[in-house]
Amino acid sequence: MCGISGIIDQKPVTRNLLTSIANLEYRGYDSCGMAMLNGKGIEVRKNTGGVEEVRSREKLDMMTGNLGIAHTRWATHGGVTTENAHPHLSQNGEFAIVHNGIISNYQKLRERLIGEGLEFRSTTDTEVFVNLVEEAFAQKNDVLGAFLEALKQIQGTYSIVLLSSHDPEHLYCVKQDSPLIIGLGEGCNYIGSDINAFLEHTRKAVVLDDGEFAVISRERYEISDVGKREEREKSILQIDWDTETTKKGGFSHYMIKEIFDEPQTARQALDVPQEQIKQLAEMFQNAPHAYLMGVGTTFFICQMAQYLFSSLSKKYFPAISSDEFNGVVPVSSGELVVAVSQSGETFDTKFSLNVAHEMGAKTAAIVNVMGSSISRMVDHVIMQGSGPEICVVSTKAALAQALLLLRTALELGYKEGCLDSKSFQSHQKELESFPELISILLNEKSGFMRNLARITSSVQNWIFLGCGIYYPVAMESALKMKEVTYLHAEGMPAGFLKHGTLSMIEESVHSLFFVPPPAEVDLHNRTIIAIEEIKTRGGTLVGLYFEGDSQAKSLLDHAVELPPVPSLIAPFVQMILAQMFAYYTALDLKRNIDKPRNLAKSVTVG
Ligand code: F6R
Repeated sequence: MCGISGIIDQKPVTRNLLTSIANLEYRGYDSCGMAMLNGKGIEVRKNTGGVEEVRSREKLDMMTGNLGIAHTRWATHGGVTTENAHPHLSQNGEFAIVHNGIISNYQKLRERLIGEGLEFRSTTDTEVFVNLVEEAFAQKNDVLGAFLEALKQIQGTYSIVLLSSHDPEHLYCVKQDSPLIIGLGEGCNYIGSDINAFLEHTRKAVVLDDGEFAVISRERYEISDVGKREEREKSILQIDWDTETTKKGGFSHYMIKEIFDEPQTARQALDVPQEQIKQLAEMFQNAPHAYLMGVGTTFFICQMAQYLFSSLSKKYFPAISSDEFNGVVPVSSGELVVAVSQSGETFDTKFSLNVAHEMGAKTAAIVNVMGSSISRMVDHVIMQGSGPEICVVSTKAALAQALLLLRTALELGYKEGCLDSKSFQSHQKELESFPELISILLNEKSGFMRNLARITSSVQNWIFLGCGIYYPVAMESALKMKEVTYLHAEGMPAGFLKHGTLSMIEESVHSLFFVPPPAEVDLHNRTIIAIEEIKTRGGTLVGLYFEGDSQAKSLLDHAVELPPVPSLIAPFVQMILAQMFAYYTALDLKRNIDKPRNLAKSVTVG
């Protein structure tokens, strides 16, 4: 999704503006640009392509000034062209803006402005807004007054930053349903669509709420309510993310670096205070009905949790994809909706949470990004503390979410009397050993996963299969494979095969089986039956299985054997190795791994 940056400083800001949009690249984008006030007026340079490409083509580093705005654009209204890239200048060049979101009534406004003789350079909704500011300024001769006057005319979702040659001392910004955060520096201030825009320079931030605008100078910032125009006191957020974690640290891609971060991420998830887990478990316990909600990977994490709650606390909490939630769940007062979201900004999840809230439901969330919308809109939030996840596809954040839900299921199981204190303690011990265990596994098995990927990277069609909790593991792993390799990979419950999919089976169709430890007798038996169904029909069998499983070993054509691990954590181990498998396959296929085509990190549009 698009990224916004703005800096106002006593020193030149060119280099920091460039770094800030480079730090927002992970969100996914197709063009970028910068606007700076340079003593003569506003200069805009922009083009299609990546930050480095546009920097060198447009000589962005030759721009000068000590206040400026910048943007990475992921096309929504209008194609991927230089004209449509941000920043957008008003007709007379005295105002420039960057904008995230969608101005829903822009067509009408555009037609009116065209009728009045305005010639648009782009087809975007953004250019309409900046010209509304110019128009209002002609009446008011006051930048803030013009900004607010223009805001009155638009509808939709937006975060906007405005720069004007009439006011070299301020940047102006507003937020409505699209995130915007102010970073507080020494003699300089920053604006970002997320904290990665300024994390290198400051750990202090103020998060704008919907319907708030800010006037920002080098030394001060003033936040007010758009409707009442009253100033608001806001608390300062102290960000504890480590910037080192955002660097690739010697790995060729963020994806593999973030997979290798997983022991650390798991530790951080296990360090989240038990009190917060207890509070969430109590919310589940007290609710007449509770639902788990997420989308994409986080939906599959919710599905895994559905199995965990069922087996550990004998409770059924349905997992629903956020985009379908409202269509199927007649949520009512007192019920509980628990959302899972790495970014905390996903449109569908936010939307459904809002509806649930309006219906009187209680809400909770597991979120990674501090200060994000979802983290601030729920009754109880657990910050997963996984640090920045830069690769577009989620790996370490997803693992942390699954572990936090596992901890909640254990706590609820204990509270409900399904687990006595001995088994509760023994599961806690298993969890404590998990970070160390995956650290060893990642190192020992990466070579095997690499080889498996080499053998199979030409396969065009994959079916990923598992039973019980291994079913959502298969679904999530298939999604990972699709995202980074662009290959067809379909996840499904192993028991589905004989109900249709078996007709596809022939040698070139490969299935990847997530085989549970043999101690999980029922799940294991069901998985072996499905493996045999494919074997009999000549399909090619690939699998992950645990040591001592002679049945799986003898049936699979290509397999990676894993050391014995406790049943509780076995699905997580397989999920991590499947992430690696997707990564190495994509590496062989020379895909754009950290930014797969057509995808964005945080999907803030519906
Ligand atoms: C897949 C992936 C996406 C996200 C989904 C939800 O690897 O990352 O499917 O899981 O877009 O995003 P968040 O967790 O930010 O709500």
